[in-house]
Amino acid sequence: MPQEINSVAVIGGGYMGAGIAEVSAVAGMPVVVRDLQQFLDGARRRVERSLAGHVKKGRMDEAARDEVLGRISFTSELKDVAGSDLVIEAIPENLDLKLSLMRELDEIVDSDTVIGTNTSSIPIAQLASKVHHPERVVGIHFFSPVPVMKLVEIVVALDTGPETVQLARSYAERLGKHPIQTKDRSGFVVNYLLTTLLISAIRMYEEGFASREDIDDGMRLGAGHPMGPLRLADMVGLDVTYAVCMSLYDEFKRDEFAPPPLLKRMIAAGRLGQKSGRGFYEYGT
Ligand code: CAA
Repeated sequence: MPQEINSVAVIGGGYMGAGIAEVSAVAGMPVVVRDLQQFLDGARRRVERSLAGHVKKGRMDEAARDEVLGRISFTSELKDVAGSDLVIEAIPENLDLKLSLMRELDEIVDSDTVIGTNTSSIPIAQLASKVHHPERVVGIHFFSPVPVMKLVEIVVALDTGPETVQLARSYAERLGKHPIQTKDRSGFVVNYLLTTLLISAIRMYEEGFASREDIDDGMRLGAGHPMGPLRLADMVGLDVTYAVCMSLYDEFKRDEFAPPPLLKRMIAAGRLGQKSGRGFYEYGT
């Protein structure tokens, strides 16, 4: 095992993956971002847009931005992730995709490379079962937007080794994040609590309790949340919210986690939230 994490590969350059790549590069580490060819430009643009925001707000100068960008390479070749101390997967929440990625990674990376997964709903133990050394697989769960949210959940699966946990914790600290440790149970700490709120808000909206704005203002102005639950569900992605609900429901068999019918219909209609331009609210592209 490496003594510490000094280089990172991120698989998946979507909203979460690009954020993980950005904060790792900002912390001084060389980063490889791997995605399918057609998504690579989007991944690069996400990082560039976010860094441009830092420059605009005076948190970073242009030279520092260029240095950060210079640390990130983009590739469509999975084999290019080999050689990084830590490989984090941040691909879509699809079990088959993640399992087959784990099998491929097992062939490609050294046996002591730490494999992190940013999954929010799939058991880490199931992903770890696809590699020969499951002690190096750990959940490293970031929150959206990654550059802003300070928390990282370190999810310890049945076979995760103590050295892996320590490396994951130190990596999170090096990013300036606050790690908390949790068992490999659906929802971990935050989604277990947060999902109940999001689902309740969607049910209220579906049943016509109040308008979307009033539900959101209620939690923002009455409970001090930075954004209301419907807008937050849009930001997280309604498909991701649904996947988390299903995972909690499957695991605990409790009605409070059952996804509301409206959520399913919105996904079927392609209303995935901010990323598709429409969810509970409308977003300019
Ligand atoms: N990337 C980088 N920086 C961003 C950003 C982004 N996408 N979005 C906002 N920011 C920065 C802004 O630049 C701003 O920085 P300064 O204070 O230095 O100017 C700061 O964040 C605040 O942003 P805004 O003033 O634009 O807006 P805001 O005060 O409403 O904050 C927010 C936006 C940070 C998103 C805030 O509303 C918030 O914290 N919302 C809750 C987010 C949350 O709950 N996330 C967890 C979701 S659950 C999850 O991710 C896990 C899962 O598995 C589903």
